[in-house]
Amino acid sequence: MQFQQEQDYSASINLGVWKRLLVYLKQFRGQLVLVGAMMALLAIVDVLLPLMSRYGIDHFVTPHTTEGLGNFVILYASMLMLQVVAIFLFIYFASRVEYGICYTLRHDGFQKLQSLPFSFFDRTPVGFLMSRMTSDAQHVSEAFSWGLVDFMWALVYLLASVVSMLLIDWKLTLMILLVVPPLAVVSAFFQRKILANQREVRKTNSKITGAFNEGIMGAKTSKTLVREDRNVQEFSELSAHMKRVSVRSASLSAIYLPIVISIGSIATAYLLTQGSHNVLTGTMSLGTVTAFFSYTVQFFQPIHNIASIFAEMQRMQAGAERVVTLLETEPDIVDTPEVEALFGDNFHPKRENWPDIKGDVVFENVTFAYKGGEEVLKDFSLTVKAGETIALVGPTGAGKSTIVNLICRFYEPTSGRILIDGVDYKERSQLWLQSNLGYVLQEPHLFS
Ligand SMILES: Nc1ncnc2c1ncn2[C@@H]1O[C@H](COP(=O)(O)OP(=O)(O)OP(=O)(O)O)[C@@H](O)[C@H]1O
Ligand SMILES: [Mg+2]
Repeated sequence: MQFQQEQDYSASINLGVWKRLLVYLKQFRGQLVLVGAMMALLAIVDVLLPLMSRYGIDHFVTPHTTEGLGNFVILYASMLMLQVVAIFLFIYFASRVEYGICYTLRHDGFQKLQSLPFSFFDRTPVGFLMSRMTSDAQHVSEAFSWGLVDFMWALVYLLASVVSMLLIDWKLTLMILLVVPPLAVVSAFFQRKILANQREVRKTNSKITGAFNEGIMGAKTSKTLVREDRNVQEFSELSAHMKRVSVRSASLSAIYLPIVISIGSIATAYLLTQGSHNVLTGTMSLGTVTAFFSYTVQFFQPIHNIASIFAEMQRMQAGAERVVTLLETEPDIVDTPEVEALFGDNFHPKRENWPDIKGDVVFENVTFAYKGGEEVLKDFSLTVKAGETIALVGPTGAGKSTIVNLICRFYEPTSGRILIDGVDYKERSQLWLQSNLGYVLQEPHLFS
């Protein structure tokens, strides 16, 4: 069954899913744009600061003068202030977006779950719905908010710093940029490996949850079957596997970072050699070498950010898809627009228009089958007068509960009609009918 499949990770990024999700997140567009703008501003400031240092070194340090230092300090301080304000705003708004999206997804999802009919819960296991509403909703909102933060900063920083370096010394820049392809390849390679490992970790984790569930919920059964030792053995194997894949995942991260730093160091070493040579021969200022040094040291960061965002989006895509599919699920029992206009819907009933109920029930040639199942009722007719007491008797699976579920309109007849007080119940609202019914379930549930 499609719903029960374990976390799947798509190999490519499908923007369509994220767009479908955006429909539900319209109200955050403004804040998302603001967060994006703040990150672009921060990236620009991060690119400008090394240029400021360059100016400071070449105009004050090298010539040993403080002339004009006042203005320089004011400008530098203003940029730092700008940076501080932008940092505050992006953290504030990204968090608002994160929690807001999570709230909206959970709120809309819960409301959707309240309005979906019985048949939906026949097809969809509770565990599936729980993880949609808890972890998927949270991960999707994190991906939206902090993913955008990292991506905007990385993109703008990368572009702006390359432009800035090219403008200062394009030859040196091109030499330094030679490390970008290997950096990108290594980042992409490791991100993919790490992703595959995390997938295994998650899969194992949900198996462990399942095993806990069996071991605890089924504790009494385990004891009657005397299978405690087998439970323990199965569980140990699972948790040993979990430990193995988790350690492997951590080792990959541990290898990845030093490799990337080493590649970056090659660029830094080249810059220092070439740069100091240029300074000594007088073809380059000390300030320029310093600015280049700042850019080169930082270079790995945006590339790493972009690689990990793509990995994260791949990882979250399946979750996003499941959340949006739930939100888009249309109930298969709905009131017609005319009925809704007159009697209201489940959340906004127009009780003043509701007719009183007497309680005559008529099944008129009702045939019914559960989705994908055999016919449970075939051309079934029954009349129950208001006030009558009826007992349905029959073997298990005969269809007694089904008849009651049909009266309640938890399911609708495949063909035929059900009349309440002489009117087809589809001509009244579901809430009208269900508010006028009392039903004790075979398996009762107590609300906290
Ligand atoms: N949600 C469902 N989805 C698919 N098939 C169902 C569903 N509920 C019941 N059925 C099938 O419909 C038939 C009638 O079931 P129903 O629950 O109405 O029987 P019943 O007479 O109430 O039985 P019992 O005496 O055990 O309560 C059975 O074959 C059952 O397997
Ligand atoms: Mg029953």
